Amino acid sequence: MKLLLLGKGGQVGWELQRSLAPLGDVVALDFDSTDFHADFSQPERLADTVLQVKPDVIVNSAAHTAVDKAESEPELARKLNATAPGIVAQAAQQIGALMVHYSTDYVFDGSGSKPWREDDATGPLSVYGSTKLEGEQLVAGHCKRHLIFRTSWVYAARGGNFAKTMLRLAKERDRLTVIDDQFGAPTGAELLADVTAHAIRETLRDPGKVGLYHLVAGGETTWHGYARFVLEQALAARVELKAQPSAVEPVPTSAFPTPARRPHNSRLDTAKLRAAFGLELPDWRLGVARMLKETL
Ligand SMILES: NC(=O)c1ccc[n+]([C@@H]2O[C@H](COP(=O)([O-])OP(=O)(O)OC[C@H]3O[C@@H](n4cnc5c(N)ncnc54)[C@H](OP(=O)(O)O)[C@@H]3O)[C@@H](O)[C@H]2O)c1
Repeated sequence: MKLLLLGKGGQVGWELQRSLAPLGDVVALDFDSTDFHADFSQPERLADTVLQVKPDVIVNSAAHTAVDKAESEPELARKLNATAPGIVAQAAQQIGALMVHYSTDYVFDGSGSKPWREDDATGPLSVYGSTKLEGEQLVAGHCKRHLIFRTSWVYAARGGNFAKTMLRLAKERDRLTVIDDQFGAPTGAELLADVTAHAIRETLRDPGKVGLYHLVAGGETTWHGYARFVLEQALAARVELKAQPSAVEPVPTSAFPTPARRPHNSRLDTAKLRAAFGLELPDWRLGVARMLKETL
């Protein structure tokens, strides 16, 4: 089997390079790859790449993920998050490939407190959210054989992440202020990549499993709860901190004005995915604790 991975250098892309490897021959590309064109800012050339590589499965983890920056460069965000995945999906349909794509909790308006289901009404609050919504609609519309995973609050051990920022700040300052009115589940790139590989195998066996799924770690928290958990883990690992977990103060979103509005309720209901693929999604704390063990 041949797989085409787009966005190989991102948080999820890096983990997909690992998790897809046992499935077959993986052609992994980034925007600056020279062997095939994979720059999403020139989307019209992506179809040639798909037609030349002729994969059985395409996994797209490339995206414009700078949520605040997207507000001031909506055309680029739309190209990367909507136009390009749409073109890849058209080419995937042409060669009969299965296309896997990622979307986000930011397609919702964040109202209420119930976990969002796949068929709930969308209402993005930001350019990032609306371009990602358009992207998932184009992928689903153009390529019948698709898997779209909406996820949230993605972190990875590689590169920077929220937990590392909290640790750095807790070493420098006596107290931290962290938002406590946005709810969601921190989800590891590792978990996303592993579930993706499993879902690809299952879907190739049973084509009825194509569709849109919510995929996040189990449980829920706020950024404030997340930060406290990180500092508790650091203390347990005997890391010296100026700010103790109790010195993390809860503040509302309004305390940190940003160009892009964020949803308050980012909870995603994963029942559909768990039932379709026979999986359990571990609590978010397991993945975060593991990532911290690797990085502390
Ligand atoms: N991060 C989150 O919290 C989050 C939450 C919900 C959903 N998601 C979705 O999950 C998926 C994976 O996200 P991630 O966290 O792995 O994001 P990421 O780390 O930002 O990775 C995105 C990848 O896209 C690449 N890229 C940027 N511009 C490109 C271009 N012009 N052409 C081709 N590739 C380009 C990036 O390259 P550079 O790094 O070199 O720019 C990077 O490798 C995305 O669809 C994202 O929307 C993410």
